[in-house]
Amino acid sequence: MSLTTPARLLPWSSLFLFLLIISQFLSSSHGDVGTAAQYSPPYLPTTCFGNDASQFPSNNLFAAAGNGIWDNGASCGREYLVRCISATVAGSCQPGQTIQIKIVDYALSTPTSPSASGTTIVLSETAFGNIANSSATSINIEFQQV
Ligand SMILES: *[C@@H]1O[C@H](CO)[C@@H](O)[C@H](O)[C@H]1NC(C)=O
Repeated sequence: MSLTTPARLLPWSSLFLFLLIISQFLSSSHGDVGTAAQYSPPYLPTTCFGNDASQFPSNNLFAAAGNGIWDNGASCGREYLVRCISATVAGSCQPGQTIQIKIVDYALSTPTSPSASGTTIVLSETAFGNIANSSATSINIEFQQV
């Protein structure tokens, strides 16, 4: 009850505002945390764009979306910045590397099986190798839609 008196209200609302500002700052500068696996060729056909080979960026940085970001197919064509933050095997991340990938498929229906199931995202071999040791099966990532 004493919390609702005017004398207590100001400090508590100030604290709330402070935490809100801090959390917004952190989310805008850091994105979300998730996991990533990798998958191998053949990459066609995809759930998003079928057999059209021109769907793949020329730098081969693309991925299949896991349930967390699939968005019932609305994620097709979306681009994400992805960075490796840690892995079960220490030293698996390529330090300081961030890639920009395009979603072309659904992780649960890729032509070849992902190296791990249930991850946020499944990266092409090229994409995965750019941010982590290619021998790794699963890594922890930070990602943000562009
Ligand atoms: C990648 O991982 C494998 C298996 O853990 C290891 O043998 C190899 O040395 C690693 N490569 C690099 C460049 O760290």
